[in-house]
Amino acid sequence: MIDLRSDTLTKPCAEMIKAMAAATVGDDVFGEDPTVNELESFAANYFGKEAALFCSSGTQTNQIAINVHVQPGGEVICHEESHVYKYEGGGIARNSGASVRLLRGDRGRITAAEIEKYMNPIHDVHFPLTQLVSIEDTANRGGGAVYDFNEILKIKEVCLANKLPLHLDGARLMNALAVNGIDEKVYCAPFDSISVCLSKGLGAPIGSILLGSADFIVKARRVRKVFGGGMRQAGFIAAGGLFALKYNVDRLIHDHSHAKLLEIGLKKCDWVADIMPVETNIVVILLKEPNKRDDLIQALAQHGIKVIAFGPGMIRMVTHLHITKEDIDFVCNAITQIDLS
Ligand SMILES: Cc1ncc(COP(=O)(O)O)c(C=O)c1O
Repeated sequence: MIDLRSDTLTKPCAEMIKAMAAATVGDDVFGEDPTVNELESFAANYFGKEAALFCSSGTQTNQIAINVHVQPGGEVICHEESHVYKYEGGGIARNSGASVRLLRGDRGRITAAEIEKYMNPIHDVHFPLTQLVSIEDTANRGGGAVYDFNEILKIKEVCLANKLPLHLDGARLMNALAVNGIDEKVYCAPFDSISVCLSKGLGAPIGSILLGSADFIVKARRVRKVFGGGMRQAGFIAAGGLFALKYNVDRLIHDHSHAKLLEIGLKKCDWVADIMPVETNIVVILLKEPNKRDDLIQALAQHGIKVIAFGPGMIRMVTHLHITKEDIDFVCNAITQIDLS
């Protein structure tokens, strides 16, 4: 099977497993796991933040950050299809008692102008207090769209002027950085908190890192415990994350070029109505006949190719470290043989 459903499907390579098995561990809730400590200080230094916290998932890092920034009754501004809102089980309401202001944006990205327009007036008691702006880079629902860094700087200006913290769901931050070429520390500077997934394109089996100021991470560590996320000998999995950050970043450009090749191949198929511009490792297509989506998924499966439904008439394909150039050639050939009429 060529499995293009998600970059979360990757399994650790032999070297990563070796590093994990050899990890020195301790009780991380006591702060005594040397490998977790090493990962946290490596990540903080790498991204230019004061501190980091190793967590079980990207959902957990996002939800912890939101909980630290927002009070019950407050409001989070984010894109209407952002992961923090759409795919985290209503966690903003459930965990933090906050509401959301959802912005339309463009391919999963929001702008400083929109944020300014839709922030609630602070002195009018009718409205919940706007307390956080959250953006996603790359934007999953935008087909892996990458933010223009200048827009991020403008968003930061609006946040500063209105005393709002800025959170980044950087589940695929390394994919964004591979495209925009901006130095990690420069890119991360405007954000008050950042979630980075180690278990997507980077290929670790488990884990995400939350980054921020030392004070923010002290608060986040408490919330992680309350959310049931205090782990004990977590060094075994942290070692996979360390390996991923050290050795699996440079190869992301191959996933991006594979996605581009898929885009070129898909453009030749008469059943494709539209393809979101491919910028990173995600390819989202819209079918000419939306009700043929499941037929397409089945037809691809018959060729040994797995893809995922991504909404009405839409499918998503994601390239990752198990997908080779030969796999892409195979897929590009197989799709020419599919007749959806
Ligand atoms: C943009 C984005 N943010 C956050 C997450 C959550 O990560 P996890 O699956 O580790 O909870 C995902 C997962 O796919 C994602 O795509």
